[in-house]
Amino acid sequence: MAKEFVVRKTPGDTAWFTKDRFGMFIHWGLYAMPARHEWIKSRERIPEEKYQKYFEYFDPDLYDPKEWAKAAKNAGMKYAVLTTKHHEGFCLFDSKYTDYKATNTPAGRDLVKEFVDAFRAEGLKIGFYYSLIDWHHPDFTMDHIHPRREDVEPEEFNKGRDMKRYAKYMRDQVTELLTNYGKIDILWFDFSYSNREFKGYPGKGKDDWEAEELIATARKLMPGIMIDNRTEIEQDLWTPEQYQPRRWMRDNDGNLVVWEACQTFSGSWGYYRDEQTWKTPEMLVRMLVNTVACGGNLLLNVGPTSRGYFDKRACDALDAMGYWMKYNSRSIYGCTQSEFEAPTDVRYTQNGNRLYVHIFAYPFGQLILPGLAGKVDYCQFLHDGSELLFREYVPKADDSNINPMGNLDPGDVAITLPIIKPDHVVPVIEVFLK
Ligand code: GLC
Repeated sequence: MAKEFVVRKTPGDTAWFTKDRFGMFIHWGLYAMPARHEWIKSRERIPEEKYQKYFEYFDPDLYDPKEWAKAAKNAGMKYAVLTTKHHEGFCLFDSKYTDYKATNTPAGRDLVKEFVDAFRAEGLKIGFYYSLIDWHHPDFTMDHIHPRREDVEPEEFNKGRDMKRYAKYMRDQVTELLTNYGKIDILWFDFSYSNREFKGYPGKGKDDWEAEELIATARKLMPGIMIDNRTEIEQDLWTPEQYQPRRWMRDNDGNLVVWEACQTFSGSWGYYRDEQTWKTPEMLVRMLVNTVACGGNLLLNVGPTSRGYFDKRACDALDAMGYWMKYNSRSIYGCTQSEFEAPTDVRYTQNGNRLYVHIFAYPFGQLILPGLAGKVDYCQFLHDGSELLFREYVPKADDSNINPMGNLDPGDVAITLPIIKPDHVVPVIEVFLK
């Protein structure tokens, strides 16, 4: 019997999520046009009139979410989370509470609706990212990241602004999102910074968002939906970002939690034309493996162009993931941290009595797995199902020979490997445990 890891119980349905393990994040908005980071409005402190140009000219004539959905599915992803509204405040969906929405741009239609239909048709689960921050809304007050922070004093800027009205606006929009698009599986709020004071004004957090009510609104409409922790109220999902946890994440009481690392292909979430730090396929596959080996999920981000397609660099990265996943996904889906400890340069995942051995540094001749002697029934490469022979040193009580098995220590299993590394960035051995 494989060891069971007990994870803290939460209100949402996480069972599918911890099996599916791999999803696509999509950051799409007006910021795809300047194409130099989704925070461009804040970073360059762009005034409203100037940012309005993007709204006037936003025309994703090549938007075909069926292609996106196919690309996600081919990469082995099982769910997708789309930015329905990012910090800039622009809504990809047709909301009756704002004019600042895709339907009023040359795009002229509800882009979220088409996304949902296309991804659902491919059998992928649907997540909505919704920004708690809004740099367009007339009730949103000044803080340290607001684009207007250096042009006007907070006191003057905040005159007539009312975060309570803004909190209501969010509840209304979340209601729309959870009413008009069928079953939504994840609600991904982003983000809080209550400890970031600015010119004597506090940052923003759960009280500003009226997070309790916001969450209650969502739960009422969709009780089993998964909600992240970024409102500052702990819910179903922890979301480490732009770094890889080295072990299973725990809450403050020490309980294991459901977690999902979110990562970019290159250094930005939104489409960033000139950004060059694209991760290699090997690094991406390793990130996925490392994540599942620590009991987590990976949400890998694409920032589509303003014309609505995934650029070639993103497609290449997705194809590379897809090639690896096509042959190795059994070591990802349904898997979690192993009960065994992996040796250096190896990562384990496990699904019941199948142990998946991911080889990060391909060794000469044999791979030694300490502590597994007597436990292994059969071994094969996962990608082609070809047998791998193994020897093991099961220590016996009357064993007088100090080293009867060459270089093996007691408890070791030595799997014989071909000299040539298989053509996979991370080869996987499937070990059938007794
Ligand atoms: C950060 C950024 C944001 C991005 C998010 C993804 O909070 O503000 O641009 O959407 O991370 O996790």
